[in-house]
Amino acid sequence: MLAAMSQSLALRRPDDWHLHLRDGAMLAAVLPFTARQFARAIIMPNLVPPVTTVAAAAAYRRRILAALPRGAEFTPLMTCYLTDATDPEELARGHREGVFTAAKLYPAHATTNSAHGVTDLARIEPVLERMARIGMPLLVHGEVTEPGVDVFDREAVFIERVLAPLHRRLPELKIVLEHATTEEAVAFVSACGPTVAATITAHHLVINRNAIFAGGLRPHLYCLPIAKRETHRLALRRAAASGDPHFFLGTDSAPHPVTAKESACGCAGIFTAPAALEIYAQVFEEEGALDRLEAFASLNGPRFYGLPPNEARIALRRRSWRVPERVAAGEAWIVPFLAGEEVLWAIA
Ligand code: DOR
Ligand code: ZN
Repeated sequence: MLAAMSQSLALRRPDDWHLHLRDGAMLAAVLPFTARQFARAIIMPNLVPPVTTVAAAAAYRRRILAALPRGAEFTPLMTCYLTDATDPEELARGHREGVFTAAKLYPAHATTNSAHGVTDLARIEPVLERMARIGMPLLVHGEVTEPGVDVFDREAVFIERVLAPLHRRLPELKIVLEHATTEEAVAFVSACGPTVAATITAHHLVINRNAIFAGGLRPHLYCLPIAKRETHRLALRRAAASGDPHFFLGTDSAPHPVTAKESACGCAGIFTAPAALEIYAQVFEEEGALDRLEAFASLNGPRFYGLPPNEARIALRRRSWRVPERVAAGEAWIVPFLAGEEVLWAIA
C-alpha cells in the first residue's frame, strides 16, 4: 500500500499499447520520448502508404530500431493496416513469423491516413474469422464515418452498430477498442468477457470538449475520437483507476508538424509522448489510485496480449517540471500536449 501522499513510486516498466511514430525525421525526433518510458509499444500502421504487408512491417520495424538512441531498450510491436483487400494468408503468416502482433481496423476515412481503410466489415469477414482462430488481436478505431452522424456520437454509434454485433458474431475474436472516449465505451467493454479490452489515452483523462474551445480554437487539443463532455471524461478516469483488466494504457501519441495543426483545416492528433507516463501518474494521484497505476500501465496490457510483463522497473518522483513548448523534428516543430505547463510527476 502507498502512503496517502506518496512522493515516489516504482513500477514495472510500462508499455504503450497505441502509438504513432511516423517515419523519417519525425520518427527520429519522437521515438526517444517514448523509449525513455515505455519498454514496448504497439506501432500504428497509418503511414503513407499504409503498412499492409509483412515485408513493409518488417522494414518499418528495422527503421524504428535504427532510429533508437544508443542504449535504449525498446521493442516495437508491429501492426497490419487492414484494407478491403487484406489477404488472410499474408496476415496469418505475418503473425506466425512474429512480425504482426495485431491488425488495425480503420473504417475508411475515419481519421488521419485512413483513406485505404475498410469500407464494410463484411468485406473482411474471412480475415476476421482467421484472426479469431489464430488469436490475433483486432485493434479498432471505433467511429462510424457517416457524415450525418454527429462527430461527438460517432463512437457510441459505432459500438452499437458495428462493435457489439461483431463481438456477438465472433466472441472469441480478441478486440481492443482503441482510445475509448465515452461512458458507452466503458460500459460496453466492462460488460464483455476477457476477449474485449480498451486503451485509454492520457489526454482523454485530462481534457473534455470544452478545453478545445477555451478562449478560442485550440488545434493542439484536436484529435479523433474527439474529446467528449465532462461526464465521459469522468467515466474514463473511473475505468482507468479501477484496476479492471479490461482497460490499459495506450497514449495514441500522434505528432504532426505545427503547420499541419495550426491551419484552416488542422489535422487530428495530440503529441503526448514527452510527458505521457507523468500525466497518467498525476491523474491516478488525483483519483487516489496510485496503487493501481501499475495494473493499468504495466500489467493489464501484457495480459491481454498474452505477453509477459516487463521485468525492468521505472521510478517516478513527485517533482514538478514543465513540458517543453515545442520539439524539433527536422525542419518542422511539434507542439506537445500541455506545452509549457507544469506536470507534478517526473521520471526519476
Ligand atoms: O487524432 C488522431 N490522430 N486520431 C487518429 O485516429 C489518428 C491519429 C494520427 O495518425 O494522427
Ligand atoms: Zn491512433
